[in-house]
Amino acid sequence: MFGRNKTISANASAVVTGAGSGIGRAFAEELARRNGAVVCADINLGTAQETADRIVSTGGRAWAVQCDVSVQAEVEALAEQADALLPEPVNLVINNAGVGVGGKPVGETSMDDWHWTMGINLWGVIHGCHVFAPRLKAQGYGGIINVASTASFAAAPLMGPYNVTKAGVLALSETLAAETSGTGVNVTVLCPTVVNTNIFTTGRIDAGITPLMNRLVELTGVPAEGVALTTLKALDRGQLYVLPQMDARMIWRAKRYLPSVYTRGAGLLSRLASAKA
Ligand SMILES: NC(=O)c1ccc[n+]([C@@H]2O[C@H](COP(=O)([O-])OP(=O)(O)OC[C@H]3O[C@@H](n4cnc5c(N)ncnc54)[C@H](O)[C@@H]3O)[C@@H](O)[C@H]2O)c1
Repeated sequence: MFGRNKTISANASAVVTGAGSGIGRAFAEELARRNGAVVCADINLGTAQETADRIVSTGGRAWAVQCDVSVQAEVEALAEQADALLPEPVNLVINNAGVGVGGKPVGETSMDDWHWTMGINLWGVIHGCHVFAPRLKAQGYGGIINVASTASFAAAPLMGPYNVTKAGVLALSETLAAETSGTGVNVTVLCPTVVNTNIFTTGRIDAGITPLMNRLVELTGVPAEGVALTTLKALDRGQLYVLPQMDARMIWRAKRYLPSVYTRGAGLLSRLASAKA
């Protein structure tokens, strides 16, 4: 049965973390529309259940599972639950769960915020890759999408923990893509700028930079559904990097070709944000 289907995103047996909201929910719903069976995992079982209910109410197949991705044993248990719930072995894993932290410079960001962000945004993705990559490789078919950010390659000021975790996710994805080359497993890393989701209200964002952040979301935020569509198309093509918005692609080029201009711009942004905070 695996290998006959050349389009990983169609008829997938999928696990999506952070599926209770935003980009994760958009991935789960889109996979179900493509006749996939989807395990919607989230630390918040209530919102994961909402996503699963939305899918089931439109004739799709979905199940909600509670999982804190920062805990290795919970991700291992998620894989076992997915085996039990899904009609076929998992062939697509979307390591999407993540949180936002911002507003304080390095040295003033609390160690608790550092550990919290590293636990979810970085260790969560490491756990997902550690648990699922060997299974997919052994099957010889499948896909892994890791959700990073433009922050993974272009660090913005006052977002130290977030930048560090996303840079780690990018490095991990590049490593995994090389290691799965020729195995039938595609790896894609999503690096968006601003997407209209709950991350800006549920994360640990300093009140001082909230107005600036809200303005940015208002001016540049895009819907999660389009980002999910672009990413699944890239996965099916075997494309590693996904920069779904024009500003993400501009930042990529600025960082690559004009790194000193980028650095000066980031410094200016930092002074501006600190003055407003
Ligand atoms: N929204 C953006 O502008 C943006 C930009 C770049 C990257 N991202 C990344 O996209 C991913 C999804 O974020 P979103 O914007 O949809 O945010 P969101 O807040 O709407 O959704 C995140 C989901 O992750 C879940 N979650 C949080 N901690 C968890 C844990 N420990 N275990 C399992 N689930 C957990 C939350 O309950 C929530 O349902 C994140 O990795 C985020 O860093 C978002």
